[in-house]
Amino acid sequence: MSRRVLIAGNWKMNGSSADLDFFQALECRTDVDVLVCLPATLIAKAATLTAQSEIKIGGQDCHAAPKGAHTGDLSAAMLADVGAQYVITGHSERRADHGETDDGVRAKSEAAQAAGLVPVICVGESQDDREAGRHIEIVTAQLAGSLPAEGPFIIAYEPVWAIGTGLTARAEDIAEMHAAIRAALPIGEAVQILYGGSVKPKNAAEILALEDVDGALVGGASLEAESFNAIIASA
Ligand code: PGA
Repeated sequence: MSRRVLIAGNWKMNGSSADLDFFQALECRTDVDVLVCLPATLIAKAATLTAQSEIKIGGQDCHAAPKGAHTGDLSAAMLADVGAQYVITGHSERRADHGETDDGVRAKSEAAQAAGLVPVICVGESQDDREAGRHIEIVTAQLAGSLPAEGPFIIAYEPVWAIGTGLTARAEDIAEMHAAIRAALPIGEAVQILYGGSVKPKNAAEILALEDVDGALVGGASLEAESFNAIIASA
């Protein structure tokens, strides 16, 4: 089964309107899907700027409820309303900073689907889990708890210790985990599984060439068009 390659950027809490000239500088390819997950404040503007292109826009989180008394939160439908087509759920920074649980991530992912968004569901082990040899067990348990019953969804495997640290998992470790994730998914062959964690122009080609790696979720290196273009080019 051939799955399309997806290179997704995650700007995290970075960027303002002035940074959206990024989109003029993006060099896309017809054989690679490109998604940029922006701070909520930039989604509407970015969606307008990219409306005539194949570039997809996403959010970084959504609430599980469709509406209500949740001050400061955004529903998936609100993101869709301003042009998002995807949303990241369960990023390790949200699991750590906001105490998000697998159950909560599943609820958010289902809410995203209900609003017509594709959730990019993040899983990954800590350094301690990996050193103890529990990484596969931990990640498959996160998957079992975080996934909606049905697609569409995308999985991003992001070892927590590799995010923003400049450390990247070894190719054999990425391959092992991606194969384990695919085997654990009921609709595994159809699902795009991205790798994330210090993906840079210098290591992207090696990572993206691995079997079962269908793309990358890129943090720091997605903030500049030059480095993001280099990653897209190496896919
Ligand atoms: P990084 O972030 O590329 O800066 O390590 C990846 C992510 O957190 O999605």
